[in-house]
Amino acid sequence: MHSFTELSTSFEKDFNRRHFPETPVNLYDAAQYILRIGGKRVRPVSVLMTNELFDEIHPDAYHVATAIEFFHNFSLIHDDIMDKAPLRRGMETVHMKYGDDTALLAGDVMLVAAYEEINKIDFSRLHAILTLFSRTAKEVCEGQQLDMDFEKKDSVTIDEYLHMISLKTSVLLAASMQMGAIIGGASQGNQHHIYEFGKNLGIAFQVQDDYLDAFGDPEKFGKQVGGDILANKKTFLLIHAIDVANEKQKADLLQLLSTNEEDKIAKVLAIFKECKVDEWAESLKEKYFLIAMKHLEDTAVMESRKAELRKLAQYLLQRES
Ligand code: IPE
Ligand code: IPE
Ligand code: MG
Ligand code: MG
Ligand code: MG
Repeated sequence: MHSFTELSTSFEKDFNRRHFPETPVNLYDAAQYILRIGGKRVRPVSVLMTNELFDEIHPDAYHVATAIEFFHNFSLIHDDIMDKAPLRRGMETVHMKYGDDTALLAGDVMLVAAYEEINKIDFSRLHAILTLFSRTAKEVCEGQQLDMDFEKKDSVTIDEYLHMISLKTSVLLAASMQMGAIIGGASQGNQHHIYEFGKNLGIAFQVQDDYLDAFGDPEKFGKQVGGDILANKKTFLLIHAIDVANEKQKADLLQLLSTNEEDKIAKVLAIFKECKVDEWAESLKEKYFLIAMKHLEDTAVMESRKAELRKLAQYLLQRES
């Protein structure tokens, strides 16, 4: 069994090449740009890892891993337009560098490239992979719409938040893992547990993402710290703070949501801290981590083969970027 670092090196070796034609220069440079500026490659490595959980890594796993990373980057380009984000992976976002119109097209072309990559896999599993991929892609769009709808709502429940992040984030990690399992020849039962492992881990992953958006180290995070606060995102941080705040804190928070004053981020962060949202983040991550681990436990594979996936789960929850 290979480690995350080994598989990530192996994926990068295959992936770090030009994927797009030379012209039109603006379109394909924009697409190539986001792939070049890095990323943790969590989803493609997850495909390779869950393939290897059941069998030797098959070349198809690289096609699927590439497709998933294309899809992920497509979603990031469009997400950064929706979120008006200036920074990604420590660099200018695609729409800031190339303009919104080109960024939209670069995302579109990357989504098509994802389907082309899937089309390269063996016919025997094409249907299963394509079906899962398309369902997941639609779910991500649904999650992104809810995320934006919630910006305009005064109150969002924690269950609504969890549903939204399951769609926008977790299902892609879940599907990556199930696709690896499919390629590895896993039974339906094992596929189910691996999907649920990825899904619950994905929820904890987005909780960590939302936590870092408020409390991350700007040097390491690579994105604009406080961006979610500026956009009035209904993250668990805000939902929990409103839940436990006293009358004054609650009134202040609601007033801050309706303004864009200069020190909005600092003021909201101060209330978040008073409401101890960081402790709550830990318990929320722990809850979904434990559900994920139970599904890994229930996967019918020798325990010793699961060690690298356990390590991946821990890394995803402690990450700083
Ligand atoms: C960012 O995903 C988008 C979310 C779903 C939170 P990652 O944190 O995996 O981003 P990269 O690919 O490593 O930059
Ligand atoms: C994005 O969630 C999820 C998708 C891209 C589908 P976020 O908006 O929190 O992701 P970041 O923080 O910009 O990476
Ligand atoms: Mg975003
Ligand atoms: Mg977003
Ligand atoms: Mg985020």
